[in-house]
Amino acid sequence: MSTSRRGFLKGILGTSAAAGAATALPACAPDINPAPVTDVTASAAGTVDLLVTRYPDLEPVGGALTVRVPGEATPLLVLHNKGDGAPDDFSVVSSICTHVGCPLGFDGKDVVCPCHLSRFSSTSGAVLTKPATTPLRTFTAEYNPGTKVLRIDLRAGQADFPAAVNGQVVFPFVEFPELRNNGARVTGTPSGYGRPIFVFRNGDGTLSAVDGVCTHQGCYVEFNEPETRLVCPCHLAAFSRQGAVERQPNTGDGPIPSLKTFTVTETADAVVVTGVA
Ligand code: FES
Ligand code: FES
Repeated sequence: MSTSRRGFLKGILGTSAAAGAATALPACAPDINPAPVTDVTASAAGTVDLLVTRYPDLEPVGGALTVRVPGEATPLLVLHNKGDGAPDDFSVVSSICTHVGCPLGFDGKDVVCPCHLSRFSSTSGAVLTKPATTPLRTFTAEYNPGTKVLRIDLRAGQADFPAAVNGQVVFPFVEFPELRNNGARVTGTPSGYGRPIFVFRNGDGTLSAVDGVCTHQGCYVEFNEPETRLVCPCHLAAFSRQGAVERQPNTGDGPIPSLKTFTVTETADAVVVTGVA
């Protein structure tokens, strides 16, 4: 691996994570480079505006840019796709490989990992070629051909899930009757927050709610039925329903923090989750 690629890993991932990713790079890895990096800040509404003409690495069809946003779990990989002849087809996925965490590049068609050559769909984030088995996260983005601004919405959510309003998500029992039952859970991505959350009615009747983004390298955790806890599909970290780390990632990267937790209260009519901001 070239010195510049080691330097890139350190710059994008930080020293300890870069060490792990660099170790993962085989000496014979082809020279597919991670996308160049830029730093931007999000608006108060959680949007990032990129004036595409300002970024020569992104402007041409086939271009790509790694965008770091303070507070985001992983950097974003912004891609200028060939599309079906459309010149302004952009998409945004997470920029860290779900295998063992290398920063990703783009060959003009697919997202490619320089480390072990996993390939991902540039639009859906789906795994096209192993060894990675977990898809990339995707983000909502809209390009304005008049202004040439690509707006990325970091807080987009599901239309069929309650939105976060002033940091609060309300689950009326008429819509979520399962939340009355011990052992139940509800999960989804609230608009206004943009990340999945889990709400649990635990076996003892208490309520808990946690963020669904793994604190290791930003993959989405899933509820694992056999383990009856949250497990990250990327490197198998496991978390309790209260967010506590119960198993460290299998990458040997060292201790990771607990999942972000929210305050949960209950009224006669609803479960209310606060702190979703
Ligand atoms: S880190 Fe191994 S394929 Fe990406
Ligand atoms: S991203 Fe590595 S264990 Fe979750």
